Amino acid sequence: MSVPVNLGRAVAKSDEIYPLQASRFYPKEQWYVGAYKSELVEGQTLARTIFGERVIFFRGEGGKATAVSNLCVHRFMPLDEGKIVDGRLVCPYHGYAYGEDGRCVHVPTGGAPSPHARLRHYPVREDGPFVWIWTGSVEGAGEVDIPDLTDIGLSDASDGWTTAVAERLHMQARAPLLVDNLFDLSHIAFIHVDSLPGAGGLAMIPPMFDRKSDRFRVGRYVPNFVAKPDTVIGDTMPMIVGQPVYAALLTDFYSPAVINSSGPWANELVDGDQPGESIAKLNFVHLITPETENSTHYFNVVTRDYHPDDESLSARLIAQTDRVRREDVGWLEQIEKIADRMSAKGEISSKADEGSLKVRRHLRSIIEAELAVSAAE
Ligand code: FES
Ligand SMILES: [Fe+2]
Repeated sequence: MSVPVNLGRAVAKSDEIYPLQASRFYPKEQWYVGAYKSELVEGQTLARTIFGERVIFFRGEGGKATAVSNLCVHRFMPLDEGKIVDGRLVCPYHGYAYGEDGRCVHVPTGGAPSPHARLRHYPVREDGPFVWIWTGSVEGAGEVDIPDLTDIGLSDASDGWTTAVAERLHMQARAPLLVDNLFDLSHIAFIHVDSLPGAGGLAMIPPMFDRKSDRFRVGRYVPNFVAKPDTVIGDTMPMIVGQPVYAALLTDFYSPAVINSSGPWANELVDGDQPGESIAKLNFVHLITPETENSTHYFNVVTRDYHPDDESLSARLIAQTDRVRREDVGWLEQIEKIADRMSAKGEISSKADEGSLKVRRHLRSIIEAELAVSAAE
């Protein structure tokens, strides 16, 4: 027999998807990371559900990344087991062959393919270590660019950065919970107390909120920060151990698909408490791609502008980020289990939540604008 749970005043409204109040669960007219570039191997298919749609990625003629819907138009066979032959996707059931634009180009039993025989084609771009996919309307793809991540070392135009690619985690929880998580780093002192030794104190410093256009930033600024050797920052930024620096622990919202956590950025200290020249920048970049309303692909890379050849450092950073993210995923999956019964109106926030609440409002406004456009069409 199930035990009734008292949810107090947290009662979900039918038009509400916790914690957002809109009938679309996350912004859709966006570019998201569909895969790491390294996952897309020539001659192989990669099946992935994105925004509830079954998508299949493959490399077409000349190795170009492409993405199409993953159900053959003939008898709806999933194309996961399809073969790539001469850059075409061939259905495993009766052999219909599709080109990289999703159009059926060959029917083995003869006759010209119907002009209606085509898979949905998703706009795709490759930049940095990612294959980006546009999940919105076809027309919208030309109006919005992929997020510009040049300043954190993640575009083909970035120079002087080293990137370490972490595991793609599958999170059985809705994407906005991850946004909440990343914008309230005070949880480091609790969830990650063992895996990030020495970082909890920094994360408890009152954050400052800053907005430039669509770029939201929550920052914790520490003049006279001295890293100790036996802490996670001391281990991963050895050049600042024992000397006072100006440290900035930043969370930056680039788009609904990308949130960066600096780990931290260290600057020279000038005039006693001001930032001078940059000494080193470390970034944990979180790539959020909704799989369904209740599940998320969680990609992650670590970029740094120092010690490019230190492979041991890269390995330690990846081990760190994977351990920390697994902890986050485990806890967020706990919230997901009850989220459908909750309402954001039932939450009681504190001063430190200002940034995350502003980001939520921003997400809500993006969703509302998307819905207004589709209603007008
Ligand atoms: S179901 Fe794909 S060719 Fe028949
Ligand atoms: Fe975390």
